[in-house]
Amino acid sequence: MYSIQEITPQVFWVGGNDRRLERFENMFPLPNGVSYNSYLITDEKTALIDTVDTSIGALYLENVTHVLNGRKLDYLVINHMEPDHCANIEEIVRRYPNVQLVGNKKTFQFLEQYYSLNMSSNYLEIQEGQELGLGKHTLRFYFAPMVHWPEVMFTYEISQGILFSADAFGSFGALSGNVFADEIDFENVFADESRRYYANIVGRYGMQVQAALKKFTDVNIRMICSVHGPIWRKNLAYILEKYDKWSRYLPEKKGVVLFYASMYGNTENVMNALANKLAKRGIQDIRLYDVSKTHPSYIISDVWKYSHMVIGSPTYNMHLYFVMDALLRELSALGLKNRKISLIGNHTWSSGAIKGMHEIIDTMKNIEIVGAPLDVRSTLKPEREPELDALADAIYASLTEA
Ligand code: FEO
Repeated sequence: MYSIQEITPQVFWVGGNDRRLERFENMFPLPNGVSYNSYLITDEKTALIDTVDTSIGALYLENVTHVLNGRKLDYLVINHMEPDHCANIEEIVRRYPNVQLVGNKKTFQFLEQYYSLNMSSNYLEIQEGQELGLGKHTLRFYFAPMVHWPEVMFTYEISQGILFSADAFGSFGALSGNVFADEIDFENVFADESRRYYANIVGRYGMQVQAALKKFTDVNIRMICSVHGPIWRKNLAYILEKYDKWSRYLPEKKGVVLFYASMYGNTENVMNALANKLAKRGIQDIRLYDVSKTHPSYIISDVWKYSHMVIGSPTYNMHLYFVMDALLRELSALGLKNRKISLIGNHTWSSGAIKGMHEIIDTMKNIEIVGAPLDVRSTLKPEREPELDALADAIYASLTEA
């Protein structure tokens, strides 16, 4: 049975959801599933915008067939060639052999890397800013390289002001009938998943997101249709502001996320004590994670959200505990900057954790170390509590400064 929605006259959502997939990109947990959005415009000419992941291919093809209602498909616009969106291209070409595949030079390079079927006679290679008339609707193409791959482009439908934005403005989380963000309790259901998606999937490419956003400064966008998550048709400023902030690596709010590695609970004890001391000083909304327990994507999301971090780790093999090492290296690879960080290390016979943290943190831009790093020897003895108090004072002062 098909499952489609007309989102605006002659423009249909023909995507679907996967609630069974354990991990997106085989890496990121999906407790609430994920949606793969594709859109079909049925004007004098018909145009499909992107396809979907192979996991929902059968439903997707039923959706497209239903909306076309016997008509042929004139265009398939390929905004992004990652397999969660390009998986059905060959099947579309087999079903609609005269369809023109709309993409750029890189699109077709990647298409040939993924597919063996020669589809070159279907190519319609477009240039930046080129327009394609469908009747009442006209598509204009904007290249958005590295948001999230080099071939990515955004397709803007001029008559209704719809931005088909590929991965940009996307989110983890399946759609449950309500496809519009304004029909959903977005703050409770999607806000965190939207940030987790951005930080982990697109976070590395903040500069390129900024470059893409600049292209639309004078463009009247009335609807944003991403390939994942809800469609934006109201209060677009909300998500545009979030994207602007996230892509400039600026925290959303003043607050502290503490995360630690702990083999026998001693580093954990210090982190708990520090969290309590911060709470006693009036700091609210404290986040505290064990890196061996919580998937790093959730910690990365909170690091993107908050201004301050406290990192706690034991020494392992005379260096940094490797789960923490991997997390910090990922934060560095994602280009994290503009944060205030406090450090707590632990060791019994060779101090290496704080040195290891510094090695990675020093690769990040505009980082301020708050308070004196605290290097614990196995357990924190009562006589060293003043050092922990001093660290709590320094974090409190930094969080509450104007
Ligand atoms: Fe949803 Fe970059 O693919």
